[in-house]
Amino acid sequence: MSLPPGFLEELRSRVSVTQVVGRKVSWDLKKSNQNKGDMWAPCPFHQEKTASFHVDDQKGFYYCFGCHAKGDAISFVKETENVNFIEAVQILAKEAGLQMPEQDPQAKEKSSYRDELFKIMDLSVRFYQRSLNSAQGAKARDYINSRKLTSATIDNFELGFASNNRTELFDYLKDKNILEEHIIDTGMCIRSDDGGAVYDRFRDRIMYPIRDSRDRCIAFGGRAMSQNARAKYLNSPETKLFDKGKSLYNFSAARSALNKQSSLIVAEGYMDVIALAQANFKASVAPLGTAITKDQLALIWRISPNPVIALDGDRAGINAAYRLIDVALPLIETGKTIKFVLMPEGYDPDDLIQERGRDAMQNLVDDAISLGDLLWKRETEGLSFDNPDARAALDKKLDQAISNVRDRQLKYHYQQYFKDLKWGAFNKKTVKKSSDLNNITSTGNAIKSSFIANSDKKNFISFKEGVILAILVKYPNLIETNKEKLTTMDWNSKDHVSLLDEIINMGHLGYKEITENLEKKFGDKALGKLFKQSYVNIIPCLGTKNDPQQAELILLDEIKKLEIQRGLDAELQEVVNSSAEELDETAFWRLGQATQVRLSSNKSEKDDLNNFETAPNGVKLNREEKSQFDALLEEISQDTFNKSKNHEN
Ligand code: CTP
Ligand code: MN
Repeated sequence: MSLPPGFLEELRSRVSVTQVVGRKVSWDLKKSNQNKGDMWAPCPFHQEKTASFHVDDQKGFYYCFGCHAKGDAISFVKETENVNFIEAVQILAKEAGLQMPEQDPQAKEKSSYRDELFKIMDLSVRFYQRSLNSAQGAKARDYINSRKLTSATIDNFELGFASNNRTELFDYLKDKNILEEHIIDTGMCIRSDDGGAVYDRFRDRIMYPIRDSRDRCIAFGGRAMSQNARAKYLNSPETKLFDKGKSLYNFSAARSALNKQSSLIVAEGYMDVIALAQANFKASVAPLGTAITKDQLALIWRISPNPVIALDGDRAGINAAYRLIDVALPLIETGKTIKFVLMPEGYDPDDLIQERGRDAMQNLVDDAISLGDLLWKRETEGLSFDNPDARAALDKKLDQAISNVRDRQLKYHYQQYFKDLKWGAFNKKTVKKSSDLNNITSTGNAIKSSFIANSDKKNFISFKEGVILAILVKYPNLIETNKEKLTTMDWNSKDHVSLLDEIINMGHLGYKEITENLEKKFGDKALGKLFKQSYVNIIPCLGTKNDPQQAELILLDEIKKLEIQRGLDAELQEVVNSSAEELDETAFWRLGQATQVRLSSNKSEKDDLNNFETAPNGVKLNREEKSQFDALLEEISQDTFNKSKNHEN
């Protein structure tokens, strides 16, 4: 749709950016100057406690001094409501009482036909709602109450009731002078096959209106009141308004409820979404009686990069989740994936919330597993890999699945990830069985010893893990955003893992509280050890400098390097653990590949080294910092940790 010149200027002049932004932030009234339209708040686009988000009402602009988000009222609506530009304009124009420009005549005719259908849907929503509240709705009300829905929930979801009367809705709509053809086109009524009488599609059912992304009712779901009904659920057919594979129940409300932190929940049924919303998981949607399609995934990703799929905990639900893996694999990209909640056997989200409460659901959402892990489960659960045939079959299945990933970087990491998992799974058996190492050829031995010779690698990994943990303690705001990476990466040291767990649990606290709690838990010795490492002194952001940006860069870099290192190790380990017969051409080819990758990564580390010198403990030092470090070395004493604590702030 093209907008006439001047329209956007008119719109911008009519809306107050302060008012638009005000719905999503809480102003820092001390810092703000309301009379001047000069307003400050904690930024809605990144997590912070201070108010660095500035709105200038006069200029109609906002700017965040923290994350540099900037724009006007339209871009704000676009970002926070997850709509496109035109939709944002429409929303604001409606609020400002500004008429959207006319479209061309043909489109206009089409839209007036569609408008008519929308009107019928709207009338039906109200009609069913009234009916639920009337005398004939008494049984339906009882039923809804028995499912523990509050009246606010019933209102919010506009639940209604279609009575057993064959033509009640039809008569009502005819009375409003609506054309029969139009009524039938909405799917609300059906003309009998012989071309005669028209009757209501939904009878003796609880009615759930289904709305589109612009909040217009496009269809209904109806749940049978009677146990004997042919179908427990009956949905509207596909119509000019309703394409069920491209719609999601509760989409528009979920979109508004989403903020940048919480993730969208995708459940299986209407009642699940409603129960979730009532338990304050307002950002929940469901497909409409079919498996989740790729169009629905696209819709979901438009509003949430990392949604959580919570299908029923029965065979059908698990199988649906397994099938969804194949739909998703070709579509995922870095930063665009899905996770899965494993519901307890026999529960759907509705049952779980009713029986075990909101927290039980929250815990499951927190424990959601990755797409990769569910794929692994699908291909390995209940199987044994103590023979080459089973291993080869697994290889084939995983390779085939991964080959569908189009994002090249992601594909690489999936391959590495499964290599690690396979190594773990195969190795369990091989370790026990191949105690007879005589079988290994001399070549194998050579590889093995060169592998083991690389013994300070352990220190190197432990060092990197320490750096990561120290950064998290000093810069706790990096915890939440990197939680997934941190928890899915492989940690070498058990101590580090328990420290990480503690740190993650304290992600909402500040540096001081975290260190205090950790001291209490582990004693100041353990923590002192972490901070007494020389990296406190050689990595500026861990020492005297307070530099969150550098901290984040180093954190991500270290995580990545560890990941690469582990991928290569797993590869080598596999070869090392192979028996003589297995050390065939393929193994050597793979070893060659791995060595090449390692060489090139060593090379880049060497390039790095040009700017560094090595300290006595093998740690790299920036030359400029060398002398500084020497001085500091002398100072390092029992209370290094306290010192670094003082350096903060
Ligand atoms: N469904 C359907 N037709 C059926 C059964 C189910 O279209 N005959 C769809 C509905 O969208 C329903 C979803 O599949 O919401 C999940 O079905 P189910 O788990 O049986 O329903 P619940 O949502 O658990 O409904 P209730 O708790 O009311 O039984
Ligand atoms: Mn249910």
